[in-house]
Amino acid sequence: MTIDEQTQRDAIARAGDRVRALSLSLGRKPTACVVTFGCQMNARDSEKLAGILEESGFSIIDDEDADFLIYNTCTVRENADKRLFGRLGAVGARKKEKPWSRLAVCGCMMQEELHVDRLKKSYPFVDLIFGTHNLFTFPSLLDAVLAPENAGNMIVDVWDRTDRILEHLPSKRKYPFKSGVNIMFGCDNFCTYCIVPYVRGRERSRRSADILDEVRRLADDGVREVMLLGQNVNSYGKNVPAGEEAAYGSFPELLAGVAEIPGIRRVRFMTSHPKDLSDELVETIRSHDNIARHLHLPLQSGSDRILKRMNRGYDSAGYLALCERIKARVPDIALTTDIIIGFPGETPEDVDATIDVVRSVRFRNAFTFLYSRRSGTPAAGFADQVPKETAQEGFDRLLRTVQEIAAEETKKQEGSVGEVLVESVNENDARLVTGRLSDNQLVHFPGDETLIGQFVRVKLCEAKGFYYIGQRVQGSDAVH
Ligand code: 5AD
Ligand code: SF4
Repeated sequence: MTIDEQTQRDAIARAGDRVRALSLSLGRKPTACVVTFGCQMNARDSEKLAGILEESGFSIIDDEDADFLIYNTCTVRENADKRLFGRLGAVGARKKEKPWSRLAVCGCMMQEELHVDRLKKSYPFVDLIFGTHNLFTFPSLLDAVLAPENAGNMIVDVWDRTDRILEHLPSKRKYPFKSGVNIMFGCDNFCTYCIVPYVRGRERSRRSADILDEVRRLADDGVREVMLLGQNVNSYGKNVPAGEEAAYGSFPELLAGVAEIPGIRRVRFMTSHPKDLSDELVETIRSHDNIARHLHLPLQSGSDRILKRMNRGYDSAGYLALCERIKARVPDIALTTDIIIGFPGETPEDVDATIDVVRSVRFRNAFTFLYSRRSGTPAAGFADQVPKETAQEGFDRLLRTVQEIAAEETKKQEGSVGEVLVESVNENDARLVTGRLSDNQLVHFPGDETLIGQFVRVKLCEAKGFYYIGQRVQGSDAVH
């Protein structure tokens, strides 16, 4: 264990003493709730926060009325910012009645000074603010914010960078049977619209031995599906300290290593940048049945002019050729994507070009976003911002195409049998359970909660746009 890791372990013990004292005065175990906005990376960070809170003695609940409430924020698009401030007002009012309670805000938004200033000015009841780079110091911060002498003081600790990666901190998984695993942090790509490189910092990879150890421990603990997480997994192991390359290797090597760990039934990864997806990666997917038949490959735009201004490092022909190569090698793979509409300077003809690419690739699903001006990014300073109505018109046009193609592609699998990892009881109909196929498509089928966490063979009876209604294949037992 490193000195940093020992420091944080000691802090968890001290925070634990404070939680015990609080427990005595309340006459019950104090509760904590972690609310996550944004991406898979934030969801994984929240599991670490919940793990630290649980190990300090809090009982983790899913209710914002908890004694310790923490918002893990996102700032990739504007509506995420708005959602936070909307929630905070209501919490402030409730907090007056519970002087022992604590409110923390962390994550990507806190890396931007304007948001921290706004909290200081208009939301003085927030007790703790920290950012993405010092998430691993949460035990020390928790200890400090629980100290009675700090009640009513706002603790603000936001770092502007870090080169440290802490291993061996606790985490509390949302699902017992699947888990995200960070393989790298940060991004060096600087797409001109994107705030991530500013709020998540430079690329840092974890050592492959640490990653493989974590996955082995997860497998021993009952995890069957892992999702390897990085802003651009294809940069894994690049830009590492000179002479230490061997401790990392390449992403395909790491992926193969993870897929070969006994007990791991399915491996996913997110996100793969099209500019540097190697043939070796495609070959690794092809040669491992338990690597998911799904590749999320953000296109962002199909117009070469816009791609250039976005600094994406590929053009539409290159993207199309890459998709063809992948489909030729792994025919059963489902391609999905992200697309931004309304980027500065985008014309209806540029949207046409994007729609053309969507029609050629035939994505199984696409996440479409209206461009959101993020202050501090190069594109925020571009003069030719697109009027909202023009962007909305393009967005609606694109969405219609995306939905039409996704529905057609989903329909093609109708009648086939696939293996579903059951995740939950269906939210709307308790007679159904919900799970995902290897290609990430959602399936709802009759079943009960005993199937959660199991792989089940299901016939895809009816395609419904982006999902299927299925039926468990007769006579088949759940496969573990
Ligand atoms: N505006 C709109 N969408 C954005 N994304 C990232 N930054 C912005 C922005 N400023 C989208 C991209 C990315 C996804 C995670 O979010 O499509 O792939
Ligand atoms: Fe943002 Fe581009 Fe990095 Fe993705 S690759 S996180 S879009 S800068």
